[in-house]
This record gives sequence, C-alpha cells and structure tokens, in this order.
Amino acid sequence: MAQIEFGGVMEEVITDEEFPLQKAREVLKDETIAVLGYGVQGPGQAKNMRDNGLNVIVGQRENSRSWDRAAADGFVPGKTLFPLVEAAQKGTIVQYLLSDAGQVATWPQIKECLNQGDALYFSHGFSITYKDQTGVIPPDYIDVIMVAPKGSGTTLRTNFVEGTGLNSSFAIFQDYTGRAKERTLAVGIAIGSAYLFPTTFQKEVYSDLTGERGVLMGCLAGVMEAQYNLLRKHGHTPSEAFNETVEELTQSLILLVAENGMDWMFANCSATAQRGALDWAPRFRDAVAPVFDQLYERVVSGAETKRVLEANSAPDYREQLNKELGVIRDSEMWRAGAAVRALRPENRKAKQ
Ligand SMILES: NC(=O)c1ccc[n+]([C@@H]2O[C@H](COP(=O)([O-])OP(=O)(O)OC[C@H]3O[C@@H](n4cnc5c(N)ncnc54)[C@H](OP(=O)(O)O)[C@@H]3O)[C@@H](O)[C@H]2O)c1
Repeated sequence: MAQIEFGGVMEEVITDEEFPLQKAREVLKDETIAVLGYGVQGPGQAKNMRDNGLNVIVGQRENSRSWDRAAADGFVPGKTLFPLVEAAQKGTIVQYLLSDAGQVATWPQIKECLNQGDALYFSHGFSITYKDQTGVIPPDYIDVIMVAPKGSGTTLRTNFVEGTGLNSSFAIFQDYTGRAKERTLAVGIAIGSAYLFPTTFQKEVYSDLTGERGVLMGCLAGVMEAQYNLLRKHGHTPSEAFNETVEELTQSLILLVAENGMDWMFANCSATAQRGALDWAPRFRDAVAPVFDQLYERVVSGAETKRVLEANSAPDYREQLNKELGVIRDSEMWRAGAAVRALRPENRKAKQ
C-alpha cells in the first residue's frame, strides 16, 4: 500500500503500481468469477475482468432484457452465461451485483450455492450492514469482501476502454481463507479501479447513501429546481433560467472544478462572480446543514434502507419509477434542457 496525504491526513491507497494486473491474474488464475446480475455494475465489471484475461461467467435470470444484453455482449448461454443459481454454484468468487432489493429476494437460494472457501463479493455495504432488514447473513465458511466503484458501472467500462479508471473503496467483512485481502485487491484492480482505498462495509454504505441523497443527486436536483423556479417566477425565460442553472455548470464550471478544484474555478471566474460565490457559499452551507444532519440520522437508523426495500420490492416498482422519472422529464425545466442540448453545435451538426 502507498501512504498518501489527503488534505493533511495520511491514508493508504493501492494502485496498479502496488498491485500490478499481472499479480491480480496470478492470484485469480484458479478462480471462476461468477457475476450475478447484468444491470449497471454487472456489465462493467464482467467485461473489464474478461478483457483482463480472467475466467468470468455471468448469472442472470432468463427471459429478460438483461439476459439478452449479456448474450449480445458475448457471454454464451450454457458456457459463460447461466441462470442465477447455476452461475452461483459454479463460481468460486460470487459477485452479488443484483439490485440491493434483488439481493434480498434471491438470498435464500444463493446462500445454498456457496461452498467452503468461496468468496461472496459485494459492491455496496448495504445487504451486510442492514442485515436485520435484508436477512443477508453469510455462512462462516466463506470470505465476504467488497469493492465499491465510486461511479456508475457505465463509466467504469467507458474509462476502462479509454485506458483510465474509476476509484473504488474496498473492505473485508470476513476472512475465512486467509486470502480475502489478496482476492479483494486482485478483483479491484481487474475491474479497472484507478486507485483503491480501504473502508468498512458500514462506512461505505453510510457515506454512499448520504452522498447520493445529498450533493451527488438529491440535493443537486433540489437546488437546481429551486433556482430555476426562482428565475422563472421573476420573468426570466426558460432558456435563460436553464443556462444560468444547469448548462453553465455542466458545460464549463464543473469541468474546471474537476480539473483543479473549487478555488481554481473561482479564480477563473469574474471578480463579480467570485465575490458573490465567496459570500453566499457559507449561507447555503449553513442552510442545508440541518437537512444533512437529518439525512445522516435516517441513514444510520436504517429508515432510508426500509424506504428503499419497500419501494423497490413492490411488484409495480418499475411502473412507479417510470412515472416519477417522467414527471422530471416532462417538467418545463428539463424540456427546456432538452432544447438547450439540441442547440449545442455538435448536436446540430450531428443532425444535418
Ligand atoms: N449502479 C451503479 O453503477 C452502482 C455503483 C456502485 C455500486 N453499485 C452496487 O452494485 C450492485 C448492483 O447495482 P446495479 O445498479 O448494477 O443494479 P441494477 O442495475 O439495479 O441491477 C439489476 C440486476 O438485478 C437483477 N434483479 C433485480 N431484482 C431481481 C430479483 N428479484 N431476482 C433476480 N434478479 C433481480 C436484474 O435482473 P433483471 O434485469 O432481470 O430485472 C439485473 O440483473 C448494488 O449493490 C449497487 O448498490 C451500483
């Protein structure tokens, strides 16, 4: 492991300098890695590992779009693509990449497929941490490990193809074989992690649920909508309101933040913008801090988990979800966004 200073705090990280791909191949040469689930993480992880020369099979329920996608991606029914239980029986490392609600539903069957010395692998601390609600309690004769990429499985794949990577956290919950750590790091490198940092199952799920409900998605959507509505209420056009709320952020400012940090973005804006941002950032921070407190409490208490499992296990889950996403898509703000995107030069040229 390399010791790196993060803002004055020393932390350990692993890159392919400390753990080269060749070593990962060596560690995993006798393993069959069964990727259960071909949703978002499944395809990214399975294809990256396969391209890295590992022995990968996919488990997916049959007669589904995901099964057809796996077959279209070159996983061959009966050879490298199987129904869930069959794949879980064949795997020595069983990657549980069903949706978190899907893990709860299938656990009684999957549990029966695990043999002594197998590794059960997760990409989220959810099922294990909230075991009282999920019922996912692994037997004591297996390793229980996690690599959690910090981004979409789609990005994991795109970055891999482009020759870059995506950061992941890793954790070991149970080390039966004494090989849990090398298995974890080997898989972490083989799926295309840029660097790996240690965590626990609990820390991973608490930070992940907070992040996606907060700045990454929920809070972001909420503050964008509030500002757009404010501008519209005061007579600004949809185009103006959308440009000042979303387009300028996604097309310019956030790219500067990604490149060199918030201070650099501020330093590359007008003096007027800087002054305003410096004055208003603390006000927004203080305004949302109590909401973040409530959020973290609900994550720790398991209230957010209860909500997820109830909503995502409902038989009409997909219909309800599509309805809610449709409300966003059909809102004036995001219809204005579609018009703004269509006017980007590259999109106009592509249409010609
Ligand atoms: N999305 C991400 O990029 C991301 C990022 C980091 C970590 N993770 C974690 O990675 C894991 C997988 O997440 P994901 O987003 O890839 O999941 P997802 O897209 O929601 O996964 C759906 C998969 O689960 C299967 N499934 C769902 N319910 C099922 C059930 N009752 N029985 C059998 N199969 C069922 C689906 O099969 P059908 O297609 O047949 O419905 C599909 O293969 C989760 O633990 C998640 O928290 C995800």
